[in-house]
Amino acid sequence: MNTDRLLAQKIQVAEAALAFVKHDSVLGIGTGSTVNCFIDALVASRIHLEAAVSSSDATTARLNSAGINVIELNHAGSLDLYIDGADEFDSHRRLIKGGGGALTREKIVAAASRKFVCIVDESKKVGVLGKFPLPIEVIPMARSFVARQLVAMGGQPELRTGFVTDNGNVILDVHNLDLVDPVAVEKHINNLPGVVTCGLFAIRPAEVVLMATAGGVVTIQGNSD
Ligand code: A5P
Repeated sequence: MNTDRLLAQKIQVAEAALAFVKHDSVLGIGTGSTVNCFIDALVASRIHLEAAVSSSDATTARLNSAGINVIELNHAGSLDLYIDGADEFDSHRRLIKGGGGALTREKIVAAASRKFVCIVDESKKVGVLGKFPLPIEVIPMARSFVARQLVAMGGQPELRTGFVTDNGNVILDVHNLDLVDPVAVEKHINNLPGVVTCGLFAIRPAEVVLMATAGGVVTIQGNSD
């Protein structure tokens, strides 16, 4: 897809997500280029938020410069709604996230929210997750140990060079993992000592995926193979 068409789809799906946002609510907001379009759409919509809970330093900076009050999750309690993008999704609304390296805070804010609405363009849809290398946030001293465990699982981990997460950790991007059973893989990887979290959102998938297509925005909820 060419860049202009891709941007048009991101804007289209970002605007569609506004329908889920309630006035004067506290909203969880993710990270990435699609979310940036959502923040722009939110500002233009004049929907007033009481506050936002952000999933990354980058999103916090963008929200601050848009004049949106950002509060800590610890001060927000449970959230009604979390809006975020994804790097891949399947028909069960299971996701790979973390292309931008914000996966851990994204998973925390998603988990603290009653509804996760994921906003994507159609290029992100896959039959089986795993074409996109799986990002895993790892405590630096465990990097080699965790990498060896991932190789034993059949994956090819690659250190994301020159990148440190907002939490001070490193990212391993893992190629060629078998993700036919993403729930089992998510549990297994999250259980390895040294792993902070992996970018699979399968144990708790998105409740709703809004997918921009050439023909408009498609809403995916419930199973649709
Ligand atoms: C950030 O860490 C990611 O999980 C993003 O949500 C994901 O990479 C989607 O980003 P884009 O909207 O830029 O494709």
